[in-house]
Amino acid sequence: MVQQLVVVGSGVMGRGIAYVAAANGFEVTLVDIEQHLLASAQHELEAIADKAIIRGKLTAEEVDHLFNRLSYSTDLVGTVGRADLVIEAVPERLDIKRTVFETLDQQAPAHCVFATNTSTMSPTEIASFTKRPERVMAMHFFNPVHRMPLVELARGLETSEETVSICEDVARRMGKETVVIQAFPGFVTSRISALVGNEAFYMLQEGLGTPEEIDKAIKLGLNYPMGPFELGDLVGLDTRLNNLRYLHEKLGEKYRPAPLLEQYVKAGRLGRKTGRGVYDYSDSGVKTP
Ligand SMILES: NC(=O)c1ccc[n+]([C@@H]2O[C@H](COP(=O)([O-])OP(=O)(O)OC[C@H]3O[C@@H](n4cnc5c(N)ncnc54)[C@H](O)[C@@H]3O)[C@@H](O)[C@H]2O)c1
Repeated sequence: MVQQLVVVGSGVMGRGIAYVAAANGFEVTLVDIEQHLLASAQHELEAIADKAIIRGKLTAEEVDHLFNRLSYSTDLVGTVGRADLVIEAVPERLDIKRTVFETLDQQAPAHCVFATNTSTMSPTEIASFTKRPERVMAMHFFNPVHRMPLVELARGLETSEETVSICEDVARRMGKETVVIQAFPGFVTSRISALVGNEAFYMLQEGLGTPEEIDKAIKLGLNYPMGPFELGDLVGLDTRLNNLRYLHEKLGEKYRPAPLLEQYVKAGRLGRKTGRGVYDYSDSGVKTP
């Protein structure tokens, strides 16, 4: 049974996955190549835990236990030797994922299962970077991880049934619902989300309306909980662009990234994580157009 968990990448997703896993009893190490990002993850997770105490979702004692089970490291090789499951959450670029999975395969124990939190990429291809493709699959969490109920599980060509049940069990122990699907670029959720988010950028580029008007139309007219720009800023516009580039390459023209989205990313307007995306968050996290 999985007990020792390593999460690789402490960005938007990795920190959230580590938090929920530690809150649900797993021993977790959160790994990044950047010490300052681990420090920022720790800071953010402490703030989330403080809010959970204020809202009565966790007691102060539960939070103490949570943080006792969660450690931070820049040494992937040194931490992965005892792992039962590794969840990778590094940027959506195949070259980076390849390096991580090659290292994992060399350093992790033979029984260890590898999950990728990729939004779009093929778990079959990612598994091919290892000599244990039967122990690799996608575990696609959603943002923010502590609030979103689903984990989308996607098998690769060689994924064994045992691996599927290990990952299903871990997701359930983390308090999540699961769907198990066959791997195809973008799975179910990212294919739809990328299309909607990209189309909104084309609308903005064409002058159809302001970001606020477009977001309001989608929320109130189509009953979406967030507008496409609010969601894009939460996801990270660089991550959204990487997803679209991959889907464009694999699924064709309808996923061609909107030039305006490319411009935002070039300008460093990546969303909440940089303080400015489509909206501005520099003033105490409150969004303004
Ligand atoms: N952002 C979202 O809403 C979202 C939702 C679901 C899935 N995803 C997927 O999750 C993955 C991570 O996305 P994110 O938004 O958290 O990215 P991010 O850019 O916020 O974080 C990535 C982190 O990985 C670290 N990193 C880079 N190379 C590394 C390495 N070799 N070893 C260890 N750490 C390394 C970076 O320093 C950074 O902290 C991507 O595959 C993305 O498609 C993202």
